[in-house]
This record gives sequence, structure tokens and C-alpha cells, in this order.
Amino acid sequence: MKQPTSFWLLTDTHYVSKQTWVEGKPFTMRERGDQIALKLSPEILDSFIDRILADDGTDIVLFTGDNVNSGDRVSHEEFRQRLERLTAAGKKVYVTTATHDYCSPNGEDECFQRGAVRYTETGTEPIPVMLRRDLFDYYYDYGPKQALSVHRESGSYVVQLGEGVRLCMIDDNGNGRSHCGLFEDGVQWLTAQIRDAKAAGDFILLAVHHPVIAPWEIFRHMVDYELYGGYRDLWKLMCEEGVRVVFTGHTHVQSIRKYTDEQGRWFVDVATIAAVNAAGKMRHVTVDPEAGVCEIGSVGLTAIRGVDTGDLTPQEYLYGINFAGRVEKSFPLLNTDFDRFLSETDGVLPAEKLRGHKALVKPGLRFIAKRKLSFAAKLGKVWKTLTPEEKKRAKETGLMDTAFEICRHIYPGNAPFPPDTVEYKALHGAAARLDRLVQRFKIEKVQKMIPPGSSLAEIAEDFLYNNRTGDDDSITVDLK
Ligand SMILES: [Fe+2]
Ligand SMILES: [Fe+2]
Repeated sequence: MKQPTSFWLLTDTHYVSKQTWVEGKPFTMRERGDQIALKLSPEILDSFIDRILADDGTDIVLFTGDNVNSGDRVSHEEFRQRLERLTAAGKKVYVTTATHDYCSPNGEDECFQRGAVRYTETGTEPIPVMLRRDLFDYYYDYGPKQALSVHRESGSYVVQLGEGVRLCMIDDNGNGRSHCGLFEDGVQWLTAQIRDAKAAGDFILLAVHHPVIAPWEIFRHMVDYELYGGYRDLWKLMCEEGVRVVFTGHTHVQSIRKYTDEQGRWFVDVATIAAVNAAGKMRHVTVDPEAGVCEIGSVGLTAIRGVDTGDLTPQEYLYGINFAGRVEKSFPLLNTDFDRFLSETDGVLPAEKLRGHKALVKPGLRFIAKRKLSFAAKLGKVWKTLTPEEKKRAKETGLMDTAFEICRHIYPGNAPFPPDTVEYKALHGAAARLDRLVQRFKIEKVQKMIPPGSSLAEIAEDFLYNNRTGDDDSITVDLK
């Protein structure tokens, strides 16, 4: 009788050492313009680790890349100390790395990070970096050392997770410009690993940093290179070989999507939200080899170690730090103190530009702020199709409140407005009307953004409700 095996999975921890910044405008602006909580990344990671250590039943932990934020040496050192804390408590830790984990001072690897910096009160100064070629040895104890097989060229490896289940940690080490995913040699190695596992009677799970299925249509078509390179080949391989689950990260979006080929063969891509997103979560996975089932769930933080979040949940507290949350929090200022609105959203909105066009921007933003959902319903010409109750709700609900609600779900998934809601009807209708206008007036800039065969209405659907597998937080996958 084979026993079940459980593990925790964290991704995109984007760890930033406190030695790499001091309070001041440079780093505050850097953080505001991002969508993750950089300053509190150590506290967030420590809180997740506390939670893992409190769980006696799970002794395996995976990290799937973008472990640190800026490829600097000191953040890696502190990150690795966290891994040591886990292993000292008896946990087995398996790590892969991704593009945020290294720098390329001479432009090698076409890495987008040339160097790392320390943020001072007034600017930045260079600090020592991690090179891509040093990562394998640096994290050797966390995966390669325990592996059944290692593909040295990519840094990928396979471990025996437990009875009847193996895990292939693919290090796709690419930024997609000219290399991403595995090269031919790596694909052959992966294929052989999958077949070896099957021959041994084991299930095999895959994990790789870059997504294999895009969370949204627009994402796939706009930035194809953000996906795991050669993803179409991987779809084929997984379907042909019956590999049912791949765990991914990178998009920072909590998303579970299923791909089914023409012959009905399928797999799921379980993409996990960045641990340092405001609504960051880790996955908890249990594989029961006897039943041939993989149970996947998600756990967020209920507190952040050492941080007083007042009346707010950690999620509410962190949401106000970055981009969308900052705009939402500052929005009421539009009607009372426009200048403060601009300074509060500095680093998020182009404050200088907006200030320069104040005469136009101020009334424009105020106009939008006052609109109700009924405005979108009328624009979309669906007003007449609404029931009296829906009309009442549309008249009472602020358009921006609905927009902010949608924004809050962009990264955590499980968008809140399925087709039977008035929000869906109004906004989907408005998007469809815009589609007609874009076509009629041949607005090329917008036309270029829309993937072939798609539409604004279709793109909007991804953000209105879960049109994926129904729940981005959990799924039970039949491995047989
Ligand atoms: Fe990331
Ligand atoms: Fe990434």
C-alpha cells in the first residue's frame, strides 16, 4: 500500500534583503510602481515558513523561481538561510530559479537585469550580483543533490517525492528572447524522465517557472515570450504521455487552466500567485498514488510576522501598497483634494503629466468617478434587457467600485461577476459595443491589441468571472 505524499509550493517570493534599501523616495517609488510587496518580502516569506513549520504532516517544500527580486547576492544569501531553517526542521526543500534570480553584467543570457542596486535615500548604488552560471551550485543542496536524474545544461532535475510519485523541476532558465524552455537535448531528457517514471509505476508531476497555458487570452497573444518556450510541444508531450499536472508561476496570477487536445487528452496548468502579492498564497498538494488522485488547495496568510496591520487583514493591508490598491485607496481624494490624490498616486499614475493637464484631467476623472453601472449598461445597449431589480442595482452601484472589485481579483483569480450578474451584463455589453465601434471606425491601435479571432468582449470575460476550471484555488486531478 503506497502512502500519500504532500508538499507545499511557493513561487515568486521576490525576496528583497533589507540590506539593499533604506526608506526614501527611490525605493518607495520602485515598490509603488510594482504589483508586489517588496519591502515586506522577508516578513511575508518568514510568515509562510512559520505556517509550513506548524504543519507536521507535510515535509516537502518547493520554490519555483523568482526566489529573489533583483538577482543580488545578499538577497540570495538571506533567502538560502530561510531554506536552511526549513531543512533544519526536517523539511525536504526543492528549488528552481528564474530570471529575477540572476543578473548579466555583460549582457550575457540577454537577461533584463544587468546589475543589482542598493536603494539609498536619494538614488541607487551598485551591489554584487548572482550570475546565472553560479545558481546551480548555489542551490545544489536543494534538489540536484537528492535527484534521481539531473539535466546539467538546464539545471532541471527529477526527485522521488514519495511512494509512487516523482517530480520534475524544470529549470527553463530563459527570458524568451532567444532562449526559453528546454533545448532539444533537454526535451529528450524530459521525455526519457517521464517514460522512466511510468516504467517504474510512478506518477510524475512537472513544475516550471514560466506558465504553460496563459491565464488570459490577451496575455498569450500580447506577450507570447512570457510563456514557457516551446509550450505547444510541452502540451503535446504531456497529453501523449499522460502527465496530468504542471505547476507554474511567473505571471503572479492564481489560475488553474485545463488544456484538452483533439483526442480528448488533457492536463492542467496550476499557476500560483506570487507569494508577495497582497493576496499571496501557497499551494498545498497531496498525491494519493493508490487512488491516483492529486488534491490541490491554497493557503494565504492570516498575519504577517512583526507587522501590525491594525483593523486590516494582511491582504487589505498589503493591497494598498501597490498600483491598483493605491489608486483605489486614493480615489475619494479626487473630489476633495486633487493635489493630494496626485501625490498619493505618484509612482503609480504619471503625476507630472496629469498635473500638466489638470484642467482636463480633474473634471474627466471626476466624471468617471460619478458614473454608475447603469452608464455601462446603457453604453452597451443592454439596459432594456435588464430586470427591474437589475436596473435598480445598476443605478446604485458605482462604475469605479465595480472596476476596483475586478482589479482586486486580477492576481488572486476567481473573478466575481459570472454571466448572470448585472455587472457582467453591463460591462460585457459595453465591451461588445466598443468592439463594434472599433470595427466601424477602424481604430487600429485597439485592433492591434486584440488577438486574431478574439474581441474586447471575449478578453473582458477573463476578468469578469472564472471561465477557467471554476476555482483558481483548488482542484482534484485524476492522475490515471
Ligand atoms: Fe515573478
Ligand atoms: Fe518570472
